[in-house]
Amino acid sequence: MKKKIGLIGVGNRPLPNDLKNSNWHGWVKNLLHSKKIEITCACDPNPFQLRRIKNVKYLFKINTYLSAREMVKKNKLDAVVICSPAKYHLNDILLCLSKNIKILVEKPCVVNMREAKKVIETKKSHLINVVQNWRYKDNSLVIKNVIRKKKIGSIGQIFFRYLRNREKLNYSKYIYEEKFPTLYAMGSHHIDLFRFILNDNIKSVETFSYKPKWSKYKYDSSQIILLRTLKDTVISYNTTFSSKNENLPQESLIIEGESGYIYNESDWFEPPVYMFKKKKINLTKEKTKKLWDIKSQNNLADMRITNNFIKFINNKKHDNATFKDAIKTIAVIEAIVKSIKLKKRITLNQ
Ligand SMILES: NC(=O)c1ccc[n+]([C@@H]2O[C@H](COP(=O)([O-])OP(=O)(O)OC[C@H]3O[C@@H](n4cnc5c(N)ncnc54)[C@H](O)[C@@H]3O)[C@@H](O)[C@H]2O)c1
Repeated sequence: MKKKIGLIGVGNRPLPNDLKNSNWHGWVKNLLHSKKIEITCACDPNPFQLRRIKNVKYLFKINTYLSAREMVKKNKLDAVVICSPAKYHLNDILLCLSKNIKILVEKPCVVNMREAKKVIETKKSHLINVVQNWRYKDNSLVIKNVIRKKKIGSIGQIFFRYLRNREKLNYSKYIYEEKFPTLYAMGSHHIDLFRFILNDNIKSVETFSYKPKWSKYKYDSSQIILLRTLKDTVISYNTTFSSKNENLPQESLIIEGESGYIYNESDWFEPPVYMFKKKKINLTKEKTKKLWDIKSQNNLADMRITNNFIKFINNKKHDNATFKDAIKTIAVIEAIVKSIKLKKRITLNQ
């Protein structure tokens, strides 16, 4: 029998507002590929979003609700996909865990360690998968493998800079009012990526936080962060949403090992990624060039996560990020915020 899935939050991530110009297909389309599951219901406090999902081919019959509580009460579900704004994730996670429903939750899974502890206390956090999609792009999988095989020796330092122009006028007002927007929106991808490719964890953080004079952001939109890992790799992470960048790659990554280095310049971590060791080697040349663009890489990563999640729902082995792993990134973000507030280096409890 097909497993039954409900959606919590039907915004742009699961169901793009403008599919043609979107950078991804979204969870709804990805899940519709599988014959092992069916989407049986969805909830969102905004009726417009519920009408949008009912307009999707094959989904006109699903039950829709204005609240997760009502949806979970009235449907016998095997799993849910939580795509509401991050501040609401905790309540819906606790609600679904109380009914032993498996969960795929978008990043950031929760917004701080106080919330994380509430989930851990249920002793059911093993029922949660977290979307950490930077991990599943071709670049990350290739780089992780090269580092694991010690092709450039032990890793001493990483330089990562992120130049995003999110000062444009077409974003909603709330975007400019969020606290530490770079850390929660993108740091949750980048820090998870560092931990994943290095197979390491962050030991301490130091941060300088600011916003440029012209910024429309209420809180700091830019940080210069130094992260030190347990294996003593130092990561220099510069990130801003207030760049005037219109033509440079948003992301630039250099990983320095004792016998060579790896580098990538792209917008959202797309191939090619190179290794330099006496000569330049394209590490992604075996990957289909047709899939090097932004949308294909996002869809590839999302399909890997979807397929893992379907295995998870069917009690098969999977390798999506677990909740206990994902909150190590939340702990790093929380330590960065603390280092900004206290203006000093913060050591993380392992
Ligand atoms: N992994 C990625 O690359 C990626 C990209 C974009 C967004 N996201 C994450 O996806 C999540 C959703 O982002 P989005 O871009 O779809 O946002 P969105 O603003 O487009 O949609 C959010 C939806 O949630 C609904 N909602 C609000 N409160 C709710 C509640 N209590 N219960 C259920 N639904 C509720 C809203 O009405 C809206 O329809 C966030 O956690 C975000 O960080 C991840």
